[in-house]
Amino acid sequence: MNYRMRAFEPEDMQAIKDIDRLSFSAEEQYPDEFYNSLLAAESLRAIVAEDGRTAAGYALLDVKAQPVRIRSIAVAPAHRNKGCGAALLRYLIEQYDTLELLVEKSNAGAIRLYERLGFTFVERSSDAELAATHHMFRRFKKASCLNDPPPPNRAATSLADGTT
Ligand SMILES: CC(C)(COP(=O)(O)OP(=O)(O)OC[C@H]1O[C@@H](n2cnc3c(N)ncnc32)[C@H](O)[C@@H]1OP(=O)(O)O)[C@@H](O)C(=O)NCCC(=O)NCCS
Repeated sequence: MNYRMRAFEPEDMQAIKDIDRLSFSAEEQYPDEFYNSLLAAESLRAIVAEDGRTAAGYALLDVKAQPVRIRSIAVAPAHRNKGCGAALLRYLIEQYDTLELLVEKSNAGAIRLYERLGFTFVERSSDAELAATHHMFRRFKKASCLNDPPPPNRAATSLADGTT
């Protein structure tokens, strides 16, 4: 299935509330005021995965967090297991160098998806309360380059001209 990624629009509000209602427990639901603040909040950005005219899934980001935090990601039950979640994450990976998220330890399906797309588990010393129930994952866009050997001549050039 092909999904088109686009910015959240006011018309998506009800679809996103419906996706959340079908995806998260009552305790995990955002209050109405939160949804109403979505469009105005400078720190928040929501991306919608659209199938034709329907919002099939969405991701909500805190773009002021360091690293950028995926606050929520959910796909409507009818669209699950068709690549929508992966398409949303791939889009975000393209947009942001580093991404971070919290996921419930019991959410094996989501954790599998994150790991397949290169997110790795991060040890945390803070947030003791959340750490009991949630894992933190991060994804570095250039992670695969970190262990690559330097290109040929790079070390010699650095030594010769004194730069690093
Ligand atoms: C987690 C979630 C966002 C994943 O979304 P999704 O659209 O189902 O994800 P994908 O379809 O990309 O991948 C899910 C599985 O479907 C498989 N899949 C993807 N495309 C497929 C296709 N065309 N045919 C068959 N299977 C497919 C994937 O390989 C993956 O398999 P796995 O479960 O063995 O790892 C979704 O399950 C959801 O909304 N869950 C409830 C809310 C939630 O838990 N959010 C995360 C909070 S941290």
